[in-house]
Amino acid sequence: MSRLRRKIVIGTGRALALSRGGRTHPRSGLHRGHAASPRSRGEGEVRVTGPPLLALRGVSKRFGAVQALKDVDLEIHEGEVVALLGDNGAGKSTLVKVISGVTPADKGVIEWQGRAVQIRTPRIARRLGIATVYQNLALCDDLDVAENLFLGRERRCPGVRGRLFRLMDTGGMRREARGQLDALGIRVPDLRTPVATLSAGQRQTVAISRALLGRPKAILLDEPTAALGVPQASHVLDLVDELREQGIGVILISHNLGDVKAVADEAAVLRLGRNNGFFHVPTTSQDRIFSAMVGATTNA
Ligand SMILES: Nc1ncnc2c1ncn2[C@@H]1O[C@H](COP(=O)(O)OP(=O)(O)OP(=O)(O)O)[C@@H](O)[C@H]1O
Ligand SMILES: [Mg+2]
Repeated sequence: MSRLRRKIVIGTGRALALSRGGRTHPRSGLHRGHAASPRSRGEGEVRVTGPPLLALRGVSKRFGAVQALKDVDLEIHEGEVVALLGDNGAGKSTLVKVISGVTPADKGVIEWQGRAVQIRTPRIARRLGIATVYQNLALCDDLDVAENLFLGRERRCPGVRGRLFRLMDTGGMRREARGQLDALGIRVPDLRTPVATLSAGQRQTVAISRALLGRPKAILLDEPTAALGVPQASHVLDLVDELREQGIGVILISHNLGDVKAVADEAAVLRLGRNNGFFHVPTTSQDRIFSAMVGATTNA
């Protein structure tokens, strides 16, 4: 059995979807369920949205001798969850880093709300409204929940206390953190808890909450359920649903096709750094998507 086969989980999507209330896909009926490129979707399809929130056209990235991405296309709309799938080394994380400005592309065009942009740094990505939750989460174990949420954008007290004495507005940051967590239905009893003591699921939700504090329009989640048990994974997927409801575009990397079936609208498959198919998730079988991931079918 290949490494990928061991890692990919098939068949839990329906169970998860049911346990989570059997969400219906908001775009059901708008697409035909077959592999298609973002530029040439199925005949007869009616798209109800304007220009994509984010579009990648012919993006390539090379690391020395390794061609990590070659002519990759991807589109995501507001309020849409796009799963980014592929074998180990397919280029998923590289694509996330290209979009988030960590490793800018060598070639190709990135469009944001219909306008070509150059995302050369993470700061530019954040300013546009693109937030990223990396797989390692990049949380500081020794700091508490509120401190982690505001890491890198700490707020000083208003007036002279902040300007002159450089005092942090701890109370204000805790209040906003509490409001944010409550709005997302995230239960963390005490914001002064060091994140080292939180469960994997709570850590994941803290990392997502931190990304949301910047009020992004798009969020990239690199394997958010990989280290979680079923209940915590289900909670994170509920959160993804909630982000979609708020009109945020979500790119979700996952090896768990059950999760993808439960929550994604579209799936984009990468194989050896190239596109290998776009699928309308509600009307496409897990087997079909799996075949594209392992290269049994070619949809370039
Ligand atoms: N900084 C780097 N320097 C050199 N090669 C790199 C670098 N980052 C990624 N690569 C290579 O680019 C290719 C794509 O890697 P990437 O991490 O994007 O894959 P992935 O799809 O995220 O895989 P996984 O499922 O294992 O996380 C791999 O061959 C990898 O070795
Ligand atoms: Mg990766």
